[in-house]
Amino acid sequence: MCGIVGYSGHRPAGPILLEGLRRLEYRGYDSAGLALFDGDRQFYIAHATGKLDALVQRVEGTLPPATSGIGHTRWATHGEPSDRNAHPQLDPDGTIAVIHNGIIENFEELRARYARGPFHSETDTEVLAHMLAGAVERGVDLLDALRGVVAEARGAYSVVAVAVGEPGRMVAARAGNAGGIVIGTGEGEHLLASDLGALLPHTRRVTFLEPGEFVDLCADSVRYVDIEGHELTKTIEVLPYDPVSAVKGPYKHFMLKEIHEQPDAALNAMRGRYLTGPLRVDLSGDIPFDAAWAKALTRVVLVGMGTSMHSALVGRHYIERFARLPAEVDNSAEFRYRGPVLDEHTLVISVAQSGETVDTLAAMDEAKRAGCPQITICNSPGAQTTRVANATLLMRAGPEIAVASTKTMVASMVLLHALALYLGRLRGTLAPDVEAQQVQAALHLPAAIGAALNLGGQIEVLADRYADSRDFLFLGRGLGYPAALEGALKLKEVSYIHAEGYAAGEMKHGPIALIDDQFPTVALAPRDDVFDKMRSNIEQIRARKGPVIALVSAGDRSLEGVATDIVEMPEVDPLLTPIVAVVPLQLLSYYIATRRGADVDQPRNLAKTVTVE
Ligand code: AGP
Repeated sequence: MCGIVGYSGHRPAGPILLEGLRRLEYRGYDSAGLALFDGDRQFYIAHATGKLDALVQRVEGTLPPATSGIGHTRWATHGEPSDRNAHPQLDPDGTIAVIHNGIIENFEELRARYARGPFHSETDTEVLAHMLAGAVERGVDLLDALRGVVAEARGAYSVVAVAVGEPGRMVAARAGNAGGIVIGTGEGEHLLASDLGALLPHTRRVTFLEPGEFVDLCADSVRYVDIEGHELTKTIEVLPYDPVSAVKGPYKHFMLKEIHEQPDAALNAMRGRYLTGPLRVDLSGDIPFDAAWAKALTRVVLVGMGTSMHSALVGRHYIERFARLPAEVDNSAEFRYRGPVLDEHTLVISVAQSGETVDTLAAMDEAKRAGCPQITICNSPGAQTTRVANATLLMRAGPEIAVASTKTMVASMVLLHALALYLGRLRGTLAPDVEAQQVQAALHLPAAIGAALNLGGQIEVLADRYADSRDFLFLGRGLGYPAALEGALKLKEVSYIHAEGYAAGEMKHGPIALIDDQFPTVALAPRDDVFDKMRSNIEQIRARKGPVIALVSAGDRSLEGVATDIVEMPEVDPLLTPIVAVVPLQLLSYYIATRRGADVDQPRNLAKTVTVE
């Protein structure tokens, strides 16, 4: 949460910072602020509550011609969204400005010890400015002062500080796993940001700050040190991302754009991994493990949060079926506190589109301590999960800007399918003809997803009919169950309608009490081996007058006259159904949300990257 951006160079910093914040706004959007060097004796400071546009309006016509400064977009943890809680935060004399992402756990203790005057905000950030100002006043160099602060401030966070009298200089630190910092090197300029999106319009030459590392940069110099002040040598990486894909194009919302990018997302995930002639999966370019290693595995644990955990639930089916390994899925936040039983033969697979979710990173740390081999599925090259895991399957879905995950779920389910097949082959548990059939079926996915997008018109009609509902139930069995969970999550997060996802068999153990003619159910009922059971569940709901929207296999008319509404999904292999079924569910959420006037791309209370526990 929270977006951080900094610039030091030869161009006007204000517009660069505002544009950077625009690209980071998905990380937090309850307030924003800027600090620019206004000569060498004072800062130009601006704060505004609300979305970035409020800040843009506030600074209009007043930005000084500064060539360096810092900016921040906030997702509140300590203190309500307000101007005074917006970053940058300053010391009482206005000599140090600080922006920060993450949580300083002992900030109250630090406030009591280091206050240099009254605090103006409720943030855990402001005390850092007080601490830095105290050290600088004692003659400590700014970078050394920051090392001292980080040594005392407990928590997982990243922080950037600037000082009047040192125009153009910026120091930053990353402590723990909360939100990374990327440094961009341009021609006679340096930038930093909490993620790549803000840097890519300016440079593709980047360096990632690891936990425990510090950076000290000016327009034409950059140096890295560790907490003890030892110099670090870091290599610049050159990234391939296309910044053009980060704009909305013809779509009204990023969510709709990203839903429509899903055929490409599936294809890009498969490229070079699903091979033809002969049909097989090859992940040897991503995963450095051999058959002996795969055969020695005894178990798989998949971790993730939210949508990523729903992908993991789909992956469990694939792993058990193709690799014949017992597989379990855990919510990352629960996993770490349970004292899980792990060993070096337990493969831990983490799914995280951002690669920065603190709960998932903590689960991975737990697995690392136990010596588990780890594979992560991630959409952000260089993100923290990719640095912890032994191997990474990059989604290659391109930037996902809408807070609601869509295309990254499709990409991650595809990759879990590929991984399960690959493990199956390495372990000798997968017959070549089954592998070939599954690869063939997967190669059809981009087309099937494209066909699912064509359901948009029908879904809009359903959205008109059900947009005023207060509650929704989503039911599925087998592979339909994770899709049902995802349908409910998507609907509640973008439309604010209360929705629950249930394994259909569970319905009669409680949720059925809710059913009446105002309580619609979305039932995933493809023609698979549990279809008859789903049909019974649908009849049970209809007997209580509950409307049912049934998602059925292509050409299946058997639920006509049973379900209230029928959506025929495109033809797809039964095992791949959830990868296609999520598309109409996403569209339903999207269209209902737009009919209710909700802020689809930036739903209230949420953030794209969740870097607090
Ligand atoms: C998805 O729509 C949600 N916004 C959320 O549940 C998300 O999937 C979760 O926060 C996990 O994020 P990650 O994939 O970046 O780890």
